[in-house]
Amino acid sequence: MCGIIGYIGGREASEILVNGLSQLEYRGYDSAGLVTLENGKLDLRKTVGRVRQLAASVVEQPPKGRIGIAHTRWATHGRPNETNAHPHLDNARRIALVHNGIIENHAAIRAFLEQQGIEFQSETDTEALVQLIGFLYGQTGDLMGSVRQALRDVQGTYGLLVLCADAPQTMIAARRGSPLIVGIGDGEYIASSDASAIVTHTSQVVYLEDNEIVTLDPEGMHVANVDATPVEKQVHTLELKLQQIELAGYEHHMLKEIFEQPETLRNAMRGRVNLQTSEILLGGVKRCERELARCKRVLLFGCGTAWHAALVGEYLFEELARTPTDVDYASELRYRNPIIEEGTLAIAVSQSGETADTLAAVREVKTKGATVLGVVNGVGSSIARETESGIYLHVGPEIGVASTKAFTAQVAVLAMLALYLGRRRHLSPERTDQVLRELNAIPDKVREALELNAQIKDLAERLSVWDNWLYLGRGVNYPLALEGALKLKEISYIHAEGLPAAEMKHGPIAMIDPGMPVVVIAPRDHTYGKILSNIEEVRSRDGRVIAIANERDRELEKLAEEVLYVPSTIPCLSPLLTSIPLQLLAYQTAVCRGHDVDKPRNLAKSVTVE
Ligand code: G6P
Repeated sequence: MCGIIGYIGGREASEILVNGLSQLEYRGYDSAGLVTLENGKLDLRKTVGRVRQLAASVVEQPPKGRIGIAHTRWATHGRPNETNAHPHLDNARRIALVHNGIIENHAAIRAFLEQQGIEFQSETDTEALVQLIGFLYGQTGDLMGSVRQALRDVQGTYGLLVLCADAPQTMIAARRGSPLIVGIGDGEYIASSDASAIVTHTSQVVYLEDNEIVTLDPEGMHVANVDATPVEKQVHTLELKLQQIELAGYEHHMLKEIFEQPETLRNAMRGRVNLQTSEILLGGVKRCERELARCKRVLLFGCGTAWHAALVGEYLFEELARTPTDVDYASELRYRNPIIEEGTLAIAVSQSGETADTLAAVREVKTKGATVLGVVNGVGSSIARETESGIYLHVGPEIGVASTKAFTAQVAVLAMLALYLGRRRHLSPERTDQVLRELNAIPDKVREALELNAQIKDLAERLSVWDNWLYLGRGVNYPLALEGALKLKEISYIHAEGLPAAEMKHGPIAMIDPGMPVVVIAPRDHTYGKILSNIEEVRSRDGRVIAIANERDRELEKLAEEVLYVPSTIPCLSPLLTSIPLQLLAYQTAVCRGHDVDKPRNLAKSVTVE
C-alpha cells in the first residue's frame, strides 16, 4: 500500500528519494511522485506506473534541493493517473504533502474550501488536507499551527510529510493510524512509512505514535502531540539488515523467501524450544501468565494469509490445549460488537503488524476486556505495540506481496503457543515432548520439500493454461486449501477456490471437467481414506488431480496426474510441509504466465486502510 519517504540533510534529496521509493515498491502501488525544495521553489515530478519511469525523468533533469518528499500511491480515491498521484500542492503551490491513509471527511472539507474559492485539481481525499493546510496558512502565516489545526479538523487516518516553500529547511511529519518512522543519520533525517527505505542510511530510528507531529530542521527533531505538548521519544536500533531486503541471486523476493523457510522456521523457534527439558519458553507472554492460566476461550483473528494461519491455529489450540477456539476475519470482528466473555484470550495474527482492520480489532477486543496477544513479524509495529504481550515471528522482512515465510512461522508460533497453554492444562510431558521433537525436525523436512521445485516448475508449465482451479483439503489442511488458492489468485490472477474436500460434493463438483486442475492435499492422517474417495470422485468426472502426499502410494499415483511428495510429520504440524508445494506451484505458475510475481496487480503488501 502507499509508501512515503522524505529527506532533509546535506545531500541532494532526489536520488535518495527515488532509491527509497524503489525499496517501497514491494508494498504495491500504481503511481509515484516526488517534490524537492530549493530557493523557495518546489520542483514536482509525477508518473503513472513504475518508479523506474520516475527515476528516468529525475536522471534526465535532476530536481534540485537537499530536502524533499516522495510517495508511491495505491489508488483509493480517484483513478491512478498523474493528477491524482502524490505529492499534492495547495492552490498557492506553497505547501506540498504526501499522505498514506484516508481522510474520511474530505468531501465536507472540499465543499467548504470550494466555497472559499479554492480550486481542486485531483479527485483525491489527500488534496482536501493539503488545501486545508494551505488555506489556514494563507490566513495565519503559521505553518506548524496550520498543520496542527488541519490535523485536528480531519477525520480518518494518516501518515504524512509536509514541506512549505517558505520554510526551506523544515519538514513536518505526522501520524494517526498509518505507520511513520524517522531515521536519524549523520546530519540528516529520513522519514518513511517503512524501515526498508531507511536501513540503507541509518539504523537509528524513532517510531511515531498516533497523534504525534514531528518537526525536522537543522536544529534537530522536535516531537509534540496535536495539542502541541512536547513528547520525549526513545531512539531504537533497527534489527533490519540491508542484505535481508536484497535478492541474493534469486529471481524474485517471493522465491527467495520460500527458500528461506528452513532458516526462518529455525529463527521462529530459536530459544523457544528446549528439547532437553521438553519446555517451551515464550518470554513475550510471561507478563500474561495469569491470564493464560485462566483462559477459557481463544479468539484468533487476522486478514488474508494471516487469517489462514489463524484457522490452522484453531485446530492446534483445540487439539493441543483442548481450549475452545474461534477464528474471525479482523474486518468482521471489529464491527460485529463481539461478545468477549471473561477468560477470553484474543490473538491478533499479522505479518506487518500494520493491517488497519487487524489493528482496529485489537482495539475493539481490548476495550471489551480481552487479554490480547500479537503474533506479529513487524518489530515495533503498531499491533506489536498495542497488544499486551506477544510473540514475534523473527523471519526478517517479507518483501514478496504473497506471504510465504511469515505464514509458516505464524503456524509454528501458534503451535508453540498451543503447546505452552496445553502444558499448563492437561497435556502430558510425553505428548509435549513428541510434538516438540517433530516441530524441531520441521526445518530440515522443509528443506527436503523444497527439492520439489524442479518437478513443480514442469508441472506449472502444463497447468498454467487453465483458468479455474480447485484446492481441496481436510481437517488442519483445509485452511491450506484456502491458502493454496489464495496464493495462486494473488500472483497468477487465476480463479481458484479452496474447499473442505467433502464440501466439493455439495455444489462445486458441478464445475469439474478436464480443464480444471484440482489440487488435493492428502497427507497420511486419519482422513486419508476419505480424501482418496474425493479424488476418485474428481477422476470420475475427468478432473485432473494434483495430489500432495507423504508416502509413495501406487493407488494414488494411478488416480492423480501428478503426486508431490513431502516428508511425513504428525498430522497437526503437516501444514508446515504441505504449504511448500502450494507456494511453489503458485510461484511457478505465475512465472509461466509472465507476471511480475513480487508486484502483483492491485495488491498491497500491507493494507493500512479499511
Ligand atoms: C494483504 C496482503 C496479504 C496479507 C494480508 C494481511 O492483503 O496482500 O498477503 O496476508 O494483507 O497482512 P498482515 O500484514 O496483517 O499479515
